[in-house]
Amino acid sequence: MRGFQVITLFIIVLSVAQVLQAQSPYTLPELSYGYDALEPAIDARTMEIHHTKHHQGYVNNLNKAVEGTDAAAQTLEVLLGNISNYSVAVRNNGGGHYNHTLFWSVLTPEEETQPTDRLRKAVRAEFGSMESMIDQMNQAAATRFGSGWAWLSVDAGNRLFISSTPNQDNPLMDVVEERGTPILGIDVWEHAYYLQYQNKRGDYLKGIWDVINWDEVSKRYEASVPENIFEMWPELDQFHTVMSQTFHPSEEGDLDPIKNRSEEMKNAAKKLSDAGIPSELDAEEVRNAVADLVADSDKLHKMVQSEATDEELTKALSGLHDTFHLIVKTCHD
Ligand SMILES: [Fe+2]
Repeated sequence: MRGFQVITLFIIVLSVAQVLQAQSPYTLPELSYGYDALEPAIDARTMEIHHTKHHQGYVNNLNKAVEGTDAAAQTLEVLLGNISNYSVAVRNNGGGHYNHTLFWSVLTPEEETQPTDRLRKAVRAEFGSMESMIDQMNQAAATRFGSGWAWLSVDAGNRLFISSTPNQDNPLMDVVEERGTPILGIDVWEHAYYLQYQNKRGDYLKGIWDVINWDEVSKRYEASVPENIFEMWPELDQFHTVMSQTFHPSEEGDLDPIKNRSEEMKNAAKKLSDAGIPSELDAEEVRNAVADLVADSDKLHKMVQSEATDEELTKALSGLHDTFHLIVKTCHD
């Protein structure tokens, strides 16, 4: 073969390879640390085989499974959320790709990572303490029969929960019992630990907590759970309580609560304003609305004192309620 023919052939092969690659929507993510970086918790050989053979296998098989189907146009999260509509191959390999991508991201050789205050608080509220949450995760991981995963996830009500799934299923899938957004996953397939720990899954589970990337787990938590503005601004929460206990009865025609509590409401608005707007929520619209809340609740209290009609009070309270929701809405956006 002449030189130029070799080059032409080479270019054709390269182009075909590129086209094939372009048609494969999924690729193996690179790790942000070396295969030996997680030792002694997880040995280098296990990491390398796990990443380059097992995870690569899920990627390859997922690309094959979605090729030429409408699944190829969906994001992986959408696919998983509707996984009951797809083949077993998409379920196993889509799960395998998603789960391992998450797994690598929540591991790190860095020792300094920490759960954020919000995550810590949520863990304490649900499990009592970080230690107790870890015990429960280990329990879920240890008792998973055969291959699978243990998960810490956020449910639709923004609450944390622990679950375990078989094979490569995960909490995003519409086929699992407890659905949510996983923020931490532990692989308990034997391929994740067998070379180093053999059958001792418990020892692997003890070691893995030394290499958990709490910064990443926190990031995933914060992304799944919108900031609770009432937590950041307790005075807004206190105002909210008086507002809901007076406004809702007024909608039913009962004006007694606001007549009895107009002074309390006025004071709650003053306290809210005095506390200052948390810097994360500070915006001109919020500042204006808070000023309105103070002025209008003062006005409403004076109306109560001067024995305004029920109709007038209802109208004033309703306006105040709108202003309150303007603050809540602006802070959420
Ligand atoms: Fe795995």
